[in-house]
Amino acid sequence: MNKRILLGVTGGIAIYKTLDLISRLKKRNVHVDVIMTRHAMEFVTPLTFETMARAKVHTDGFDRENPEAVEHIQLAKDADVFLIAPATANCMAKLAHGIADDLLSTTALAATCPLMLAPAMNTKMLKHPATQKNMQILAERGAQFIASGQGFLACNEIGEGRMAEPVEILQALRDHFTKKDLQGLRLIVTAGGTRESLDPVRYLTNHSSGKMGWHLAHRALLRGAEVIFITAASLPALKGAKTVRVHTTMEMLAAVQEHFADADGLLMAAAPSDYRPAVVREQKIKKSDDTMTVEFVRNPDILKTVTKDKTHQFVVAFAAETENLTAYAAKKRQEKKADLIVANDVTQEGAGFATDTNIATLIDENGEVALPKMRKAALADRILTRVLQGKNASL
Ligand SMILES: Cc1cc2nc3c(=O)[nH]c(=O)nc-3n(C[C@H](O)[C@H](O)[C@H](O)COP(=O)(O)O)c2cc1C
Repeated sequence: MNKRILLGVTGGIAIYKTLDLISRLKKRNVHVDVIMTRHAMEFVTPLTFETMARAKVHTDGFDRENPEAVEHIQLAKDADVFLIAPATANCMAKLAHGIADDLLSTTALAATCPLMLAPAMNTKMLKHPATQKNMQILAERGAQFIASGQGFLACNEIGEGRMAEPVEILQALRDHFTKKDLQGLRLIVTAGGTRESLDPVRYLTNHSSGKMGWHLAHRALLRGAEVIFITAASLPALKGAKTVRVHTTMEMLAAVQEHFADADGLLMAAAPSDYRPAVVREQKIKKSDDTMTVEFVRNPDILKTVTKDKTHQFVVAFAAETENLTAYAAKKRQEKKADLIVANDVTQEGAGFATDTNIATLIDENGEVALPKMRKAALADRILTRVLQGKNASL
């Protein structure tokens, strides 16, 4: 990260975690300017922060060591992001109301760079209507919150208010600085195995967890795309995406069809069921004979159906196979009129369903590239970069 972070440190017990955060940032050669409040210095001395950040810590705007610059204006001007960690209830109250009575709060008023806050406090302080209102004001003004978590608090209580861990704050910074190279693109991403009901209590599905689709949608959002996320799996909400929740293949088809004409790309990471029971019983099926026969009918193929009307869209298909991987996948790519197919052998360790990694081969009209085992988020980036390059590029 070739960035300059202005780090505001306030008087909360989570301050010890901020030292770990600085250590991680310094390992990545990030420049960190630290401002400490008077109360922060009650917990840890500036010397510790100075040593970790390898730079002078700023504590007092009236200490005119450098008469050529006004400290709060200069610090605000230089920063790519203003991160406050921990952010006390008091600090957020001051920021919400424009109070500028110390170096940190005065600099916050002068700063035009994005503001990120990692709140940390006792649960009752966090849930207090005053704190909640102040956070709402700051969020509406564009501040980005790195949410506090549940856990054991220094006040000997268990609850919400624990500051996010340094790795989470680091990830939030990384996400923040991710290049918005997909801005202006509208992408449909599907995820998860569809569910076909047999009766009101039972359904048939497959092992797809939806993780690949979720990572594609998540990375696409971070890279600035507009995302329509059509999911059959219960996955964490994706802030900023238009999420459409579906159960069956027919529902997923309808949702994709609704958005396809206006989309720039379709990434079909879902595993739609190829068949559905011919009849969905209105009442629960009771056990009777030793065997049971269910008649299935074919579901329409979502990709084949929508690509009949394909115009400018870049279409990515996925093939989860157990044998003859690339031959099946290449055939599938042509049949489904996909520009790119992501093939993976689900029998390989570290590939396929429910794992956080995948081993994929990308196939387009010019050839194929076998990728090493990588995290699904990294694979998502690889695929999205290919989508960005468009139809005329090769792998
Ligand atoms: C031991 C101790 C721990 C504290 N921990 C927190 C905390 O985690 N979060 C918080 O909002 N305030 C906490 N406070 C209260 C703040 O330090 C206090 O509101 C102070 O005025 C904040 O000043 P600042 O925001 O200018 O740093 C704590 C106070 C003490 C004495």
